[in-house]
Amino acid sequence: MTSPVIDSTLPPTDEISDEELTEIGRLLSIGRCFDLSVYKAKCMKRRVAIRMRSTRCRDAAAYCGLLRQNALELDLLQKTLTIHVSQFFRNPSMFEKLRSEVLPPLFRAGRNGLAESLRISCLGCASGEEPYSLAILLREHFGRELRRTATTIFGTDIDAETLEAARQAEYNEDRLKEVPQETRERYFRRHGARLRLIPEIREMVTFGQGDIAAVGGYAASNLVLCRNTLIYFTRPDQERILNGIADILPPGGILVLGKSETMVGDARLRFAPLCTMERIYRRV
Ligand SMILES: C[S@@+](CC[C@H](N)C(=O)[O-])C[C@H]1O[C@@H](n2cnc3c(N)ncnc32)[C@H](O)[C@@H]1O
Repeated sequence: MTSPVIDSTLPPTDEISDEELTEIGRLLSIGRCFDLSVYKAKCMKRRVAIRMRSTRCRDAAAYCGLLRQNALELDLLQKTLTIHVSQFFRNPSMFEKLRSEVLPPLFRAGRNGLAESLRISCLGCASGEEPYSLAILLREHFGRELRRTATTIFGTDIDAETLEAARQAEYNEDRLKEVPQETRERYFRRHGARLRLIPEIREMVTFGQGDIAAVGGYAASNLVLCRNTLIYFTRPDQERILNGIADILPPGGILVLGKSETMVGDARLRFAPLCTMERIYRRV
């Protein structure tokens, strides 16, 4: 087995050609069934360069050599390509909008008062911060509705390790910056330097591995949050994913995107803006 060309004396270059990115994609597809082609090339090149620098590979050819020989590097690369930054109550004003304007009519959607069931999905849920924030919000403000409406919160992500962290539900302080002190005290318990979510909230959320690019695999839902995930996909794939989400929402169902994401292409015909500022859309 030949060693990849790694030269610790030279500053690594970040230059990655389209062909080299395609080769990296091929290695990820074979080794990890991971489809790199659905993500924006520029963004992926920047992320690959991070791994090239960490492994001190002189160029992309050397890095491809490393990927061919080292299965662990495939895992580390996939992890770097799928960005897992999240926070409890990220963009608090969006959660306030859900509380005051979105959730009450969704709970009332049933013919005789309260709906019989309400299904919520968080696509690209990272370590669970977003679905657990929803669970806390429901527990805090919709106790009566929860008793009468079978409510499920389902979090999916492509990354198995991140989902395992979600199931553990233990967080560093920085993930809770937006959580008011009172809420912290009520729903988290200190565990060494970290904060652990109480079982009552953990039990409200179910997690499963899923690829949002594999349209057709999402569960039917009344409310979908897909925030800060779509942005990494190419425009045609964003459109395909948004149409896939439209397919699983009933008329009146709600989709929430991230602050820097928006409706694209054909999908615009299937959603009406409910709050442009918070990127909340209603399925028409
Ligand atoms: C930046 S985080 C967003 C977390 C959360 N939604 C939020 O807004 O705080 C993006 C998440 O999308 C996940 N992701 C990336 N590609 C994905 C895919 N093809 N299918 C499902 N999840 C994906 C990543 O693993 C990561 O956890």
